[in-house]
Amino acid sequence: MTASVISAGPIPGTGRAAQGAIELRQVSKHYGDVVAVDELDLTVQPGEFVTLLGPSGSGKTTTMMMVAGFEEHTAGAILIDGKPVDTLPPRDRNLGVVFQNYALFPHMSALENVEFALRMRKVPRAERRQRAEEALDRVGLGKMGGRKPRQLSGGQQQRVALARALVFNPAALLLDEPMAALDKRLREQMQEEIKTLQKGLGISVLFVTHDQDEAMAMSDRIVVMRDGKIVQSGPPEEVYNHPMTDWVASFLGDTNLIPCTVVERNGEEAVVDLGGLGMAKVRDRGASGENYAVSVRPEHLKFRTRATAGNGCAASLVSSTNLGATVRHRLTAGGHDLQLRELSSDSVARIRPDEELWVGWDADKAQLLVLES
Ligand SMILES: Nc1ncnc2c1ncn2[C@@H]1O[C@H](COP(=O)(O)OP(=O)(O)O)[C@@H](O)[C@H]1O
Ligand SMILES: [Mg+2]
Repeated sequence: MTASVISAGPIPGTGRAAQGAIELRQVSKHYGDVVAVDELDLTVQPGEFVTLLGPSGSGKTTTMMMVAGFEEHTAGAILIDGKPVDTLPPRDRNLGVVFQNYALFPHMSALENVEFALRMRKVPRAERRQRAEEALDRVGLGKMGGRKPRQLSGGQQQRVALARALVFNPAALLLDEPMAALDKRLREQMQEEIKTLQKGLGISVLFVTHDQDEAMAMSDRIVVMRDGKIVQSGPPEEVYNHPMTDWVASFLGDTNLIPCTVVERNGEEAVVDLGGLGMAKVRDRGASGENYAVSVRPEHLKFRTRATAGNGCAASLVSSTNLGATVRHRLTAGGHDLQLRELSSDSVARIRPDEELWVGWDADKAQLLVLES
């Protein structure tokens, strides 16, 4: 991808020039023998919200540190709005940064913390105060500028950090697990606020999380990382519904993996032999490897009557657990353990231990993937 994809005009509805394209070309980082990031190719388009999702140690923070300029890369090139930034110090990269371990200065007030970002960039004193106040206003802390970090809650401190990252109108935001220290409710609230802020400003965001729900909720595109490499990238629904490997399927939630033999592949669809579960038509995105399986999410497995079976088979119930909003049923079918999830409100007390059950799924909800493990 080249700089020509960047449009010079304003982003529709924002009045803001399209900027904030981040591009990594074959970027690697080695720490001695450790390959933390391995020939990464990644592009964030202006205004796009891209999330790096992966387990601990997969290279997410290292990637962010290199883009921010806190770490030097071993190989490759990093470009912002088409310009190489490899030799630029962090403050000249025009990126707003909120990292987990990039804390506020404890001896400065919230307002002074935000102003500091402008002082670093040589903004005249007279202008600084007003811009810092506006930035605090934008994150809902207009009245708390005088407080020290210790007089603010965790969520409020993260808002100050966000104001500090936004106050100098950066080209893009880099957010590395910014909500990891917050409890669930506050985290969900902040997720929505960050998303609203990002859309309103039309700013690009490179975001890091190891939490798949957070990635699903916030991203235009999810980039799944493992061992310093990208294993799959796409819009959240695409990655969730069409994982290419069993590892991606399992990392992004629960799934039923049924080993299979591929009988026929014709473009978007494949015919597979599921052993004890018979033959089935499934979605095919062209993943290729030695061993294959079919992935069916528990919420896509349905109780059926024998007459409408289609993709499906006889099953017997092992256990049912009410999880509040949903019920999780464990079943065995054709020698496989399966999980079926349904809304509690749909779960009639129809299931008796001795009852003959049928389960099935729609062909477009079953995905052919490569079995790695
Ligand atoms: N300063 C460092 N020195 C040596 N190894 C490091 C350093 N920073 C990170 N690593 C290693 O690089 C890999 C990726 O780490 P990191 O980018 O922090 O992963 P993540 O943010 O996805 O949890 C890990 O194996 C980690 O131990
Ligand atoms: Mg990290």
